[in-house]
Amino acid sequence: MTLILTIESTCDETAAAVVNEKLEALGSVVASQDELHQRFGGVVPEIASRAHVERILPVIDETLQRAGVRLADLDAIAVANMPGLSGSLLVGLSAAKGLCVATGLPLIAINHLQAHVYACKIASGEEVFPCVGLIASGGHSNLYRCDGPTDFTPLGGTIDDAAGEAFDKVASLLGLPYPGGPSVSRAAERGDPKKIRFPRPLLNDDSRLAFSFSGLKTAVRYRLIGPGKLQDSEASPPSEQEIADIAAGFQEAVVDCLVGKAELALKQSGYRTLCVGGGVAANGRLRERLEQSAAEHGHRLFIPPMSLCTDNAVMGAIAVERFKAGKFESLELDVFPGQER
Ligand code: KG4
Ligand code: ZN
Repeated sequence: MTLILTIESTCDETAAAVVNEKLEALGSVVASQDELHQRFGGVVPEIASRAHVERILPVIDETLQRAGVRLADLDAIAVANMPGLSGSLLVGLSAAKGLCVATGLPLIAINHLQAHVYACKIASGEEVFPCVGLIASGGHSNLYRCDGPTDFTPLGGTIDDAAGEAFDKVASLLGLPYPGGPSVSRAAERGDPKKIRFPRPLLNDDSRLAFSFSGLKTAVRYRLIGPGKLQDSEASPPSEQEIADIAAGFQEAVVDCLVGKAELALKQSGYRTLCVGGGVAANGRLRERLEQSAAEHGHRLFIPPMSLCTDNAVMGAIAVERFKAGKFESLELDVFPGQER
């Protein structure tokens, strides 16, 4: 049985897992840094990389212990080296290289966004390829044509903020805690999504598979400041109900854009399967609307459970595919913080 240790440190979660060729996780640990970034309303890269340095070895140790596996039992070490925050990525990559040097095991590179799509296969146990992949997270909002586990073609993405980033920034404007996604969606449950109609940028432009969420965030800001006023200092504090209505209206606008462009990507590609991943895929309203859309248009829909939507190392089991294909890396491997490679 092939056993791979997978390491994930692309953003603010330090995670590791031991996975086998049946895509089962023998052990998995996710150390969240949410409490460190909370008071800043977003991930602070320098704090994130320092926290990864402190946590990475204990997380790997704990993972091996939970899996009941020694380093000598492993067949490869895999690490997400793209995309993400450069300092964070470097910590995971350095740990992986160190383990490879110490054990002589081969090194496998994981593309974090492809791993988010692959989580759909892991969770469902079904063959999901070929499919359209929709990734909506704190750092990314992307669409892919996925012809196989090692064959991804980018179709489009956000031209400014990511969907999760918009949730986090709007939460901060509304005085709701970080991470913004869960707190905005909780507030939205008590709100009327039709009360305020926020813009749906690019949604009606069928020529582009692109998202734009920064204007939406600005629209929320001006709504809070109030008509005829220009500065945040002129705003009167919103009532609980206003916060709930803004949260619901904002969430509906983001969901409309994500669902609309995913439908367009399916239509353009002719593919009949949609795989969704990333932290924003934990959003209940998004899940509901994606299910409605799948029922209406007759395509297959895969969304992993919450624990496999947000950052984790189990989705790094995509490394099993690279292991089978003999796609190994030299110890010269670098990090690629940007989107695509
Ligand atoms: O994939 P992820 O764990 O990390 C990145 O790679 O970015 O995604 C984190 C993002 C955060 O922006 C968070 O606010 C958002 O996912 N998120 C949600 C929900 N849960 C997490 N957004 C909307 N609704 C949620 N329920
Ligand atoms: Zn992610």
